[in-house]
Amino acid sequence: MRERFRVVGGTPLQGRVPVAGAKNSALKLMAGALLAVGRTRLTNVPAIVDVTIMAELLRRLGVVVDHDPGRGVVELDVPEKIGHRADYELVRALRASISVLGPLVARCGEADVAIPGGDAIGSRGLDLHAAGLEGLGAKVHVAHGYLIASAPGGLRGADIRLDFPSVGATENILMAAVLAPGATRIDNAAREPEIVDIADFLVSMGAHVSGAGTSVIEIAGVEALHPTVHAVVADRIAAGSWAFAAATTRGDVEVVGGVADHLEITLDLLSSVGCTVSTTADGFRVLAPPGRPRSIDVATLPYPGFPTDLQPFALTYNAVADGSAMVTENLFEARFRTVQELARLGADTRIDGHHVMVHGVAQLSGAPVEASDIRAGAALVVAGLVADGVTTVSGAHHIDRGYASFETLVSGLGGDVTREADDDPFV
Ligand code: UD1
Repeated sequence: MRERFRVVGGTPLQGRVPVAGAKNSALKLMAGALLAVGRTRLTNVPAIVDVTIMAELLRRLGVVVDHDPGRGVVELDVPEKIGHRADYELVRALRASISVLGPLVARCGEADVAIPGGDAIGSRGLDLHAAGLEGLGAKVHVAHGYLIASAPGGLRGADIRLDFPSVGATENILMAAVLAPGATRIDNAAREPEIVDIADFLVSMGAHVSGAGTSVIEIAGVEALHPTVHAVVADRIAAGSWAFAAATTRGDVEVVGGVADHLEITLDLLSSVGCTVSTTADGFRVLAPPGRPRSIDVATLPYPGFPTDLQPFALTYNAVADGSAMVTENLFEARFRTVQELARLGADTRIDGHHVMVHGVAQLSGAPVEASDIRAGAALVVAGLVADGVTTVSGAHHIDRGYASFETLVSGLGGDVTREADDDPFV
């Protein structure tokens, strides 16, 4: 059944909201569990659909997965012999499935992983993943929609330089290299907290990894890893979205479990326009100043720069801010799908290449809009909270991929958001 969120605008968000473990770490840690035979236990796993999809993918490889969403626990019992093929059916539903590539080549000496839609080797997409594995000694080619990697004689450590600090490529190379004999050095590695989380996880399994969180990661290959117990790092993107929601609705929100250090630039920007940002015993708090918020220029960059995943929230914020701002997207092409929906709510925006000029208006006006992905959808709900009247955000399933029961979280902060059947007969 299709569902949508019904939002009634007008209430500032106030109170405490919890953040769970990071989706973008939990999925990779589940893939990383393939590296050790035996039972690995992950805690602080978010209760979202993507975890269920990754669990299914791993089951098809032979892993016994026990998933207890209520307790945020996933246990993965990995057998000695595992399959090495990730089917299109699951990969198309979960792009992050590509993160089984590195662990599978390391464990099996081969991997056939379906190529997620929209990607092509040789252009943007997976070229850095492929080049990294080739650097470690694998042969990689594409056939029948699958990326096929093989290293019959095993991988070996190598110096690898990434042309761009890709998160996914860094993770795949790191997870492949931990079992490759010899020394590996990844130059221009991604520095995201999720990379640090994966490195910590691998070290707790007996891997030798140093430098995660900097641009140079060094790995000394070991013969085998052992299972471990690991708590997933807090979701900085979910945390950042609540920070923006507080600022946009002129509210006061404590993000319980949020790590302010992982959002330094975002929180500095909000402070610079008058928000009071403080760390608390349980996380951090964002208190908006009275009156209309001031606009903020934002340009997305790899970590520690402003996260691309928070860009839709910056658009919503600026849509109602006092002044004009430029929002620049440097990571993904054409990732401005929030803009046309915000325009339906009366936002004054103009797209020019990878920039959006936003002229803040005093008041948005409620209307039906459509979520195109997790963060764009959540940002539209926030827009609905500062719009006059009722906004419906269809495509609730997109938002469910990043937030467990989003409507409960927003309601807990006083926002008027309910989930309802989407009975639009023409969709
Ligand atoms: C991850 C996150 C995503 C976030 C992104 C950037 C997950 C599941 N997703 O995605 O939410 O928006 O980091 O912070 O963790 N690129 C190439 N060749 C490659 C790989 C990437 O050209 O081989 C390009 C991509 O097309 C994109 C840019 O590099 O333009 C960033 O991609 P990457 O850092 O790899 O992001 P993901 O790991 O896909």
